[in-house]
Amino acid sequence: MKTRAIVINQYGGADQLIQDMVELPELDEKQVLVKVHATSVNPIDWKLREGYLSQMMPWDFPIILGWDVAGEIAEVGAMVTDWQVGDKVFARPETTRFGTYADYTIVDDHLLAKKPEAISFEEAAAVPLAGLTAYQALFIHGHLKAGEKVLIHAGAGGVGMYAIQLAKNLGAQVFTTASEKNRDWLEGLGADQVIDYRSTDFSEVLSGIDLVFDTMGGEIQDKSFRVLKPETGRLISIVGEPNLELAKEFNILLAKSIWLNPDGSQLQKMADWLESGQLKSIVGETFPLTAEGVKDAHQLSETHHAKGKIVLKNKESNK
Ligand SMILES: NC(=O)c1ccc[n+]([C@@H]2O[C@H](COP(=O)([O-])OP(=O)(O)OC[C@H]3O[C@@H](n4cnc5c(N)ncnc54)[C@H](OP(=O)(O)O)[C@@H]3O)[C@@H](O)[C@H]2O)c1
Repeated sequence: MKTRAIVINQYGGADQLIQDMVELPELDEKQVLVKVHATSVNPIDWKLREGYLSQMMPWDFPIILGWDVAGEIAEVGAMVTDWQVGDKVFARPETTRFGTYADYTIVDDHLLAKKPEAISFEEAAAVPLAGLTAYQALFIHGHLKAGEKVLIHAGAGGVGMYAIQLAKNLGAQVFTTASEKNRDWLEGLGADQVIDYRSTDFSEVLSGIDLVFDTMGGEIQDKSFRVLKPETGRLISIVGEPNLELAKEFNILLAKSIWLNPDGSQLQKMADWLESGQLKSIVGETFPLTAEGVKDAHQLSETHHAKGKIVLKNKESNK
């Protein structure tokens, strides 16, 4: 089938984003077709648009960007047993060139989770990619435990604001870097100490940290080794390979870079927390799912100072 989508036909700036009709692949027997009510913007979208990831993902054009979806199942594959047409779902689909900036998108059935009734489609669309990244960095790779001290860089960003809540709910002591204007908001989400990165060098005021969640890389990552507990300290990065010489110098137990692995059962756990109010999805800005709307949304994301998540709402979905 063909779907309206916002695509790129070559790599470049935000002006490459155009609306077109795209033929989607045939649905596999374990896939569903989702009518997209909302999707969200992640930095990977514009990094890919610029062509920075073209070696890792050598795809043909057109490319439909976007890898978050909240919507309704419109069709199910022949072997799908757990989901039905009409189910309200959200997901982080596989990373293919048929992304979610579209009226319809294809999702493998095991990647789906039930959209919480308590939140809107826009709030749901904000969660999968950023929320799962936070979940996996803290719990699967970082082995964070109750009572431990965790430093989360860029707490006001899409990944950071979920990470703060997940770590706090586990019972960890949460430190985060952010600008002063976001202090009260992040304390409200559960941060025990917010360090204003514009006025204070975190590496001079923190020590004895069990886990650093690095969402920034570069000099910030390098300095992070200094605040970790020797022997048991861990650093998990989502932005670049850690410097293993520094890890050795500071006698750090584990330093590694990770990529999100889409996972429907982990997302379902987060859905349960969203339903019960233990976890909040924070949408900073919403734009329409049109070429102009996506351009504006990318430009905001590219400033690297957006608050919470940037969401694209699909007015064509007749929700
Ligand atoms: N490996 C993976 O699988 C994976 C998955 C998801 C994301 N990522 C990557 O992780 C990074 C973060 O993603 P995101 O979605 O959270 O980005 P984001 O939402 O664009 O992050 C924006 C936030 O960064 C904060 N910030 C900017 N400079 C800062 C600094 N020097 N210190 C502390 N905070 C600072 C800003 O806060 P202020 O406005 O207060 O400055 C803003 O709220 C991106 O590079 C993304 O590509 C990787």
